[in-house]
Amino acid sequence: MCGIIGFTGELAVKNVLLEGLQALEYRGYDSAGIAFFDKDGIKTIKTTGKVMDLKNMVDQASVSEGTCGIGHTRWATHGGVTNTNSHPHTYGKVTLIHNGIIENYHELETELAATGRYPVSQTDTEIVSMLLDSLYQGDAYEAIKKAVVRLEGAYAFCILFADDPDVIYCIRNGSPLVACHSPEGSVIASDMVALIKYSKDYFVLPEEHIAKLTKNGIVVTNFNEEVVTPDMLHVNWDVTAAQKGGYPHFMLKEIHEQPESIRATILPRIRKGVPDFTADNIPGSIFDGVNRIIITACGTAMHAGLVGRIMIEQLLRIPVTVEIASEFRYQNPIMDKNTLVITISQSGETADTLAALRLAKEKHATTLSVVNVKGSSIARESDYVLYTHAGPEIAVASTKAYTAQLACLYMIAFQVALYRGTITVEQGAQYIKELQAVIPAIEETLTYADTMNDICKSLVNTEDLFFIGRGLDYALSCEGSIKLKEISYIHSEAYAAGELKHGTLSLITEGVPVVALVTQENVSAKMISNIREVRARGAMVIMITNGIADADDTIYDYNIKLPKTSDSFAPFTAAIILQMLAYYTSVHRGHNVDQPRNLAKSVTVE
Ligand code: F6R
Repeated sequence: MCGIIGFTGELAVKNVLLEGLQALEYRGYDSAGIAFFDKDGIKTIKTTGKVMDLKNMVDQASVSEGTCGIGHTRWATHGGVTNTNSHPHTYGKVTLIHNGIIENYHELETELAATGRYPVSQTDTEIVSMLLDSLYQGDAYEAIKKAVVRLEGAYAFCILFADDPDVIYCIRNGSPLVACHSPEGSVIASDMVALIKYSKDYFVLPEEHIAKLTKNGIVVTNFNEEVVTPDMLHVNWDVTAAQKGGYPHFMLKEIHEQPESIRATILPRIRKGVPDFTADNIPGSIFDGVNRIIITACGTAMHAGLVGRIMIEQLLRIPVTVEIASEFRYQNPIMDKNTLVITISQSGETADTLAALRLAKEKHATTLSVVNVKGSSIARESDYVLYTHAGPEIAVASTKAYTAQLACLYMIAFQVALYRGTITVEQGAQYIKELQAVIPAIEETLTYADTMNDICKSLVNTEDLFFIGRGLDYALSCEGSIKLKEISYIHSEAYAAGELKHGTLSLITEGVPVVALVTQENVSAKMISNIREVRARGAMVIMITNGIADADDTIYDYNIKLPKTSDSFAPFTAAIILQMLAYYTSVHRGHNVDQPRNLAKSVTVE
């Protein structure tokens, strides 16, 4: 949700910024811009469109080889997608870029108008450049400190002051900023993917601290101007992990990375054949007295929670609910010290999930998060973290993070059930074996790519599509539906198959595609009946089975037989099929798979 980068050092800054913005483009792709210290002062180049459009403009512009600057890729919030609304914004001596939303910008705008300052754009960001300029009297620190107390909302800013060449000031609240210093210079960005070229060691800028970047280093100070040494973090992936590696799209690459991401997520947590969270510093005692579990997240991460709920509830026999974070936080939810709240997030920065976590902490619940990005806000603020080791996920549509989240939730279910004695050690070991067996099963499912590619050709002109399933298959249907919608722009709905006849069946007419998941033996006969119901109304049926459905071939157009796993583990292989369904359909419809319209990754606005 907007990508920002700042660099000052020994390299030609325009190249550093353009490369960084390309890596960050998944966070927003409405417009892009850079500003840097040129020989005659600060030069800004910005445009609507992609980073490539910006690069073409920069290539044509006559600029010197400046070595300090800032860059931004925008996901529009306040103000339409126009050149003027693109970042960076300059007012007087201040040029800045912003990720987040300033909620009281209108009030500030009115105040500043009384001093004769008027914006040229419709953005909240420009108002902050005006505010800073009005407060600046030669001391950047003073101006920043005075400005941020006036700001309501979330922000990460990188700021250039015309008087202070080759220096970048940064501050954040709510929106992420990570930074590192290397022999080439100092770099700061929204995400590690833009830093990895320079260092694997980095730090997260603490909130309400100011970072001053010079080519010699980064100084972080609190508001009392005391120097603070932030904790250093390390990533164990390299620059190739954030590249396409020969695949046409990041999404396809990430789909194919799933055996490895699940392996990396589960294997280090298995000891003597059973789950062990010692290395994650999660003692079994955190589950003592827990009488209720709430899982809260957004989008795909929330859908992982729907699967996790069923597994945890079945093994633990305590109530588990799954809550959409953006709803949960406003409902005065019932929680106390006996509640375990599990937040799930790939980015670890999703604003609503973070707010739900903070609410849970306020109400004294124990908080455990399942997060992919190390050192992210949700990871840092949770009592306990179980990291998914999926590596960087660049495609906007989440794939490998989802299955890694499932793997973590299954591990949590096994671990807590063992600790509380609701399963035996033998059962725990058997579950772990079955979870490990998912890895070769996914590898085999990936070989269905050509089949899926062919099937998806028949969906090119589809306008509406339904996913149906029961139990775990219904939870999976929700994920299949969002995946298809977000990248193929086909309207789709996920339905609990038994609910169809209570209204939705009226939408099933000749040729409407229905993807029917039939991986759960206990409800397979009922599912077959539901498929017959849609078939009788003319549906085109794509059936996904786990080798259990005893169905005659008149009820489907396609039957995708998953490699055999036990039913509880079928979500892993079924998810791969649904991801490929969305991917190839989007490709055949000619869409930009990795950067679907209107969306962006890491949703730091509420
Ligand atoms: C869909 C997708 C989103 C995210 C959601 C939460 O493919 O990726 O629905 O799952 O925005 O994001 P995180 O997991 O970063 O909290």
